[in-house]
Amino acid sequence: MGSNKHILLAVSGGIAAYKSAELVRVMRKSGAEVRVVMTQAATQFVSPLTFQALSGHPVHTDILNAEAEHAMDHISLARWADAMIIAPATANTIAKCSLGMADDLLSTLYLAAKCAVYMAPSMNQAMWHHPATQENIARLLSHGVTLIGPEAGEQACGETGLGRMSDPIIICEQVLAESSMLLNGLKVLISAGPTREPLDPVRYITNRSSGKMGYALAKAALQAGAQVTLVTGPVSLAVPNGVEAVKVETAAQMYQAVLARASDHDIYIGAAAVADYSPGDVQPEKIKKNQLQTTVILNKTQDILADVALLKVRPFTVGFAAETENLEGYALGKLNAKNLDMIAANWVGQSSQGGFDSDQNALQLFWKGGQKTLPMVDKHYLAKQLIEVIAERWDEKNTA
Ligand code: PMT
Repeated sequence: MGSNKHILLAVSGGIAAYKSAELVRVMRKSGAEVRVVMTQAATQFVSPLTFQALSGHPVHTDILNAEAEHAMDHISLARWADAMIIAPATANTIAKCSLGMADDLLSTLYLAAKCAVYMAPSMNQAMWHHPATQENIARLLSHGVTLIGPEAGEQACGETGLGRMSDPIIICEQVLAESSMLLNGLKVLISAGPTREPLDPVRYITNRSSGKMGYALAKAALQAGAQVTLVTGPVSLAVPNGVEAVKVETAAQMYQAVLARASDHDIYIGAAAVADYSPGDVQPEKIKKNQLQTTVILNKTQDILADVALLKVRPFTVGFAAETENLEGYALGKLNAKNLDMIAANWVGQSSQGGFDSDQNALQLFWKGGQKTLPMVDKHYLAKQLIEVIAERWDEKNTA
């Protein structure tokens, strides 16, 4: 269930820290890879060596540890994670995270993380019920944190009530099940990257697409349990392990590759920036400088997305719209004109808006009768969110 999942476990200083050692064990048994971060207080309860032995990786304790920085700095660690679990989350750690303080590695990672964050609180029942803690919890929920527990029962201090950290197996199942298997058993076809339209053997017309959005979607769909085929234009990204890649260069090749496979897939996501035009007259030899023409005749390329949506046996078809103006109007125009199931619209043109060749992006999703805004975040986290919405819409269409 947890295969390919990167779990960042952050342990703060409470008696339940010993349960987190068991959490590492069950996570790894489920196939997840686990890296552990501990606060100084946590190391008073359980030795970092225990977590190192169970996770198979050195434990991170200091924000300014030269060796740890060299091995994986805190930003890389935050980016590496598919999910962050703070367990146990003490009242102090909850308070610091809720206020955005960053005075140790754990709280800094909380701010840096763009993946889903889970917290398993653990504290005395009176501390849990205190209005200060409850206000902090409300703030964390507004950040998008998912709480697991706390459970009621007898506490280490001898009192009885809410405040016990949830069982490691329950935490493991919730984290790995969430968004895990949303596309289980489905086949997803994704296009990514730019196309190159040659003028001669050495020159071509292309665009700024890096492939990051499409590749992040391929990874997110894979992690959601899908069988993923990625038809990719030329980019310098590594194909995620487990994804089948079909490498193409031109819009015509991408058209062939996608149309040959679309009917055999449940979902098609057109994230590629396909050239709308390509030179009509490709020269077989390099055009000499003095023979370069000032006018190039361009022919319209075939619209892959529109033709996928026209197939008799068609997948659930999701298009993208890249716009520099009137985002909603143009996106809705494309949704209707191409008869799509959904369109993901993004602003392009300025790097601060995300879009092309940026690590971050924001999307405005539209479908017939609905819409949703996915604010600016890392493309990997954004891809997960988009996959969740696609899974919901797919379910609705196929169970209607
Ligand atoms: O690759 P990145 O650097 O991460 O950047 C991501 C992105 C900005 C490229 C991506 O988020 C995005 O917006 N992809 C679609 C870009 C695009 O071509 O948009 P468009 O509005 O011109 O096209 C609309 C849709 O038609 C797209 O789904 C496109 O794949 C599809 N299309 C366009 C032309 C064509 N001949 N065939 C197509 O299928």
